[in-house]
Amino acid sequence: MIIEKLSPHTGAEVRGVDLREKFDAAALNRAFVEHSVLVVRDQDLTAPQLLAAVQQFGAVLQQHNTKFALPECPPIHYISNQDQYPDGSRYIAGAGYHTDHSNAEAPPKATILCAVSLPDRGGDTQYVNMHEAYDSLDAATKARIEGRRAIHVYQSRYSARKLIALPDGAKVPDSVAHPLARTHPESGRKALYLNPIRTEGIVDMDDAEGLPLLDELLAHAVREKHQYRHKWQPGDVVMWDNRCLLHKANGDYDMSQLRYMYRVMLQGDAPR
Ligand SMILES: [Fe+2]
Repeated sequence: MIIEKLSPHTGAEVRGVDLREKFDAAALNRAFVEHSVLVVRDQDLTAPQLLAAVQQFGAVLQQHNTKFALPECPPIHYISNQDQYPDGSRYIAGAGYHTDHSNAEAPPKATILCAVSLPDRGGDTQYVNMHEAYDSLDAATKARIEGRRAIHVYQSRYSARKLIALPDGAKVPDSVAHPLARTHPESGRKALYLNPIRTEGIVDMDDAEGLPLLDELLAHAVREKHQYRHKWQPGDVVMWDNRCLLHKANGDYDMSQLRYMYRVMLQGDAPR
């Protein structure tokens, strides 16, 4: 197994592993915690094989919108650029920085995407390292957010991006407070925990103060020096750490080409 960094602070490429066979999950998890994004190259997995592989890293989390569940393997969902809003416009899942399912009391520690079909170019996934973002805050801002919690809902009224409707009768967690600065349960490092598509304010702070503060923290976080931009290759399985990253998809490619991935999430702890 070969592990090589993909940027100075975020991401590592893993080669020499076949996720269909027995592999050293503990070593991969150590690399995962160290690098936050693991890119396992050259895989050829069916959905059930992906499921079996990721279960070695933790319990699978039920994703919130079951509309995207694969009928033949429901714990695995799909992401496709062929999905549309009811008005016929194209839905690009994950456009705009966010962290997955932060409206859950215990959000997923990891999300895993498995490339099934990729456009010839474009469609990168961008990541922001929120440990770096936290560490580079000035002392006054760190003091200002210490002990503060933000309110996360399924879909923030302030979100620039609308989610696709849930199936009739579906219930998802709505309104939970999570710390703005959380401590990674495995590394002990602090990270900013923001989510512009799901955050509606800061607990016990007027919106007139809280909303601009959230905007300011986000603008600080997403600066290029905190980013790793992943260019997909056929066979990539990418696993990232939602506890210390933001991510977003890019809809910047030829939409006549299919971009289709399997997606699965692993259960995490309540942020603290
Ligand atoms: Fe996402």
